[in-house]
Amino acid sequence: MNILLIGSGGREHALAWKIAQSPMVQSLCCAPGNGGMADIAENVDLDTGSHADVIEFCQEKHIDLVVVGPEAPLVDGLADALTIAGIAVFGPQKTAAQLEGSKGFTKDICARYGIPTAAYGRFADAEAAKAYVKEQGAPIVVKADGLAAGKGVIIAQTELQATQAIDDMFAGAFGEAGVEVVVEEFLEGEEASFFALSDGTTVLPLATAQDHKAVGDGDTGPNTGGMGAYSPAPVMTDEMVEQVMREIVEPTAQAMRDLGCPYKGVFFAGLMITSTGPKLIEYNCRFGDPECQVLMMRLKSDIVPLLKACAEGTLAQQGVEWHAQSALTVVLAAKGYPGSYKKGSDIRNIAPAEATGTQVFHAGTKVEGGRIIATGGRVLNVTALGTTVTEAQAKAYSAIDVIDWPEGFCRSDIGWRAVAREKISS
Ligand code: AMP
Ligand code: GLY
Repeated sequence: MNILLIGSGGREHALAWKIAQSPMVQSLCCAPGNGGMADIAENVDLDTGSHADVIEFCQEKHIDLVVVGPEAPLVDGLADALTIAGIAVFGPQKTAAQLEGSKGFTKDICARYGIPTAAYGRFADAEAAKAYVKEQGAPIVVKADGLAAGKGVIIAQTELQATQAIDDMFAGAFGEAGVEVVVEEFLEGEEASFFALSDGTTVLPLATAQDHKAVGDGDTGPNTGGMGAYSPAPVMTDEMVEQVMREIVEPTAQAMRDLGCPYKGVFFAGLMITSTGPKLIEYNCRFGDPECQVLMMRLKSDIVPLLKACAEGTLAQQGVEWHAQSALTVVLAAKGYPGSYKKGSDIRNIAPAEATGTQVFHAGTKVEGGRIIATGGRVLNVTALGTTVTEAQAKAYSAIDVIDWPEGFCRSDIGWRAVAREKISS
């Protein structure tokens, strides 16, 4: 098969790494790709925002399957355009991608299908939203309805903070994404991520993971795209996974069928494990970044038949096998991230770090004259397997010690919740 992978982050490097191992693959192109993907695939300069350009490329290169990494092209209808052109695609159609693209859309599905989630209201004007805040009290959560690059969620500790957030959103702080807002109950508990594949009819559970969104140790400081992750997440027991499939993911797949837009792709459910069980915080219509990196390390099965089956509607014939080990990834980011940071510094000693038995997935890098140069905020994902999360953590941090990149930094406590649990149980 000839495969085109859309994206340039650590998530896409991990997908490319796993796809490239498949004996089914003849060629793998990445658009635009990054410095790590250049080693295992052909990076192509393609305007992925232009559906016509992507289709033309696929026809020219006889692409059999397009795998879409990030959410924006999906919410923008790339999967629809490819399907109309007769090209198989992994990733939901535009209407189905609203599960991520519109928080209000997802909350309404939860209400209609009895899916456990935070109580909420949807508002198109500030006064009504403020009245709801007054009625409910703080803490309370204010969210821009649309895609806001992970920044459209304000956890308001006071009613004043909530009303300010509402005013900001309606004043255009998040552009189009804030034309409507969702105000919802603050959920208490531990967060976990759950992933499942879907071909529209069959839902195949994949695995659990836990991300670290805050930039600083001890979960302090501003939120980022994710500073590290591990899988599986011991906070989710097997029974809880079954409960999430039964009460959250399967009813969502049913809802999408009922709406006439069967969901094909990956369900990424962000969950809060509350004292009364798992509740849905949000859906994403793509793999998590950096959660994907740990999932790919643990995945024993060939990923290509799974992605193809989602596109073709044959997932019922597929199973999935995992390595017994835990996986953990630590993000190396440019100093200053998630605020402003410098680009263009050299990164050395990646190969010696990998030689210690880890996998280094690239995010914001490019290769120039044999040098590896940092080009983004999140730059590398140092990823290891271990018999425990504690062991995987030790391996990842030993490899980081080998990498020579003075302009970078990382959290020093990725995996702390699982490590603490492992200490108690040992
Ligand atoms: P989201 O973009 O919806 O994932 O929200 C970003 C982060 O805000 C989540 O990962 C949670 O940490 C937090 N969050 C969102 N909704 C809630 C909620 N209802 N209660 C508590 N925390 C929330
Ligand atoms: N790591 C969180 C996300 O991909 O949304």
